[in-house]
Amino acid sequence: MRVLAVASEMHPLVKTGGLADVVGALPAALKAQGVELVTLLPGYPAVLRAVAGAKAVKRYPDLFGAPARLLKAEGLLVLESHALFVRDGGLYGDATGTDWPDNLQRFAALASVAADIATGDRKAFRPDLVHLHDWQAALAAAYIRFGPADVPSILTIHNLAFQGRFDAAQFPLLGLPQEAFGIDGVEYYGGVGFLKAGLRFADAITTVSPTYAQEIRDPAFGMGLDGLLNERAGQLHGILNGIDTDEWNPATDRLIAARFSAGKLAARARNKRAVEQLFALQPGEGPIFCVVSRLTWQKGMDLLVDALDALVAMGGRLALLGSGDRAIEGAMLAAAARHPGRIGVRIGYDEAVSHQLQAGADAILVPSRTEPCGLTQMYGLRYGCVPVVARTGGLADTVIDANEAAVAAGVATGLLFDLVNAQSLRAVLQRAVDLHADADSWRAMQRAGMRADFSWGRSAARYAALYRSVLAARG
Ligand code: ADP
Ligand code: GLC
Repeated sequence: MRVLAVASEMHPLVKTGGLADVVGALPAALKAQGVELVTLLPGYPAVLRAVAGAKAVKRYPDLFGAPARLLKAEGLLVLESHALFVRDGGLYGDATGTDWPDNLQRFAALASVAADIATGDRKAFRPDLVHLHDWQAALAAAYIRFGPADVPSILTIHNLAFQGRFDAAQFPLLGLPQEAFGIDGVEYYGGVGFLKAGLRFADAITTVSPTYAQEIRDPAFGMGLDGLLNERAGQLHGILNGIDTDEWNPATDRLIAARFSAGKLAARARNKRAVEQLFALQPGEGPIFCVVSRLTWQKGMDLLVDALDALVAMGGRLALLGSGDRAIEGAMLAAAARHPGRIGVRIGYDEAVSHQLQAGADAILVPSRTEPCGLTQMYGLRYGCVPVVARTGGLADTVIDANEAAVAAGVATGLLFDLVNAQSLRAVLQRAVDLHADADSWRAMQRAGMRADFSWGRSAARYAALYRSVLAARG
């Protein structure tokens, strides 16, 4: 089976979040299931550098106002358009975080080229099916529906909060027939909705954890799309993300100070010293909590700001790596200035430091208000960095709470808390500090987490089964 994946990020080429990790891991995971996956990516500068010398298999003299070419490399198709994708700044916006004004054209171009590839071209690729990731790819389902391609599509929602919404006045730019602009099409609350269109036209919809698949059918989580998601509930599947267990392996990781395993946990101490040094933390008895995250409201980072004085008063320390909301960045830096030696903050994005924190901190905090899947808690589990997480989405599906029964049975892997507010966050931090003081129980929790299996095998088999059933349904 041949599948064209379409996405706007792919680790290790371009990444702003977990989407990239998943898109990067799926080709190898699905190969083991007999699926050949080729991924279509926008030709951002980093992607073009990685495929330098790749040959052009198709030319588009005028793709949304400028010439473009389709480049083919190993496992990749790259949409090269200097006008659309080569610029200084982020993938979706400029250096100040303001969305690029032509995001509609940029990702409509990606989606329309995906639909074009789906018509089958000997030189490019002939997919049996297309697998679209998030709003940046979602419109391909509409281009396929109203175009000549006759292949089914699957849309995976990585985060319902990002929807690709634009002004209705821009609809004519898409080159879709007028009939596509209706409540049963790309129209969404009077505007244009890329994700909405994909949810309407894809043959099947998946999201990245079973709990999130349930949650998004509720108005409290559905972000205006719960009605449509309920209508399509029969085609909505929750498939938990896996992690790349080669890249995230504490026994072989070259980015950390000392390698270790569940049976050799003592070696982990050197990594803790390294975190203390890197984040200028005073040595101490209490746990080091870490954060590796986008600093946003979704991730509950504003709540964490409010709990930091309490965290220090309990004897905890914090090492935080992240960037995002400017106000939250400022508040984190202010807390570090108030508590030198107890709170260390690095604003920015750093792959190596993210590994070092998982390897050396005692616990990783993920107090998200919503979390479709979440990967950092799974990296934490694999590295003996005990997750302290909100009971939502994929966090609820991957961590076993250290209640008394679970601790007694030796199956607990982390701490979960309900009702994400400052008070419940303080309570779970205290629970973590207390549990950490009981070294035997803590070690048992680390070992249970390290032995859990989050490799892609099972989930890849579920994607492959879904591909097959969607193809069979088309006959
Ligand atoms: P999301 O995709 O919502 O941001 P995930 O937990 O699914 O959340 O994925 C986040 C990914 O980005 C993980 O691989 C995490 O390690 C990485 N990450 C987030 N922030 C940083 C950072 N500041 N530096 C390095 N890696 C980061
Ligand atoms: C999104 C979600 C995150 C998920 C990731 C990969 O960025 O916010 O929860 O883990 O996609 O699916």
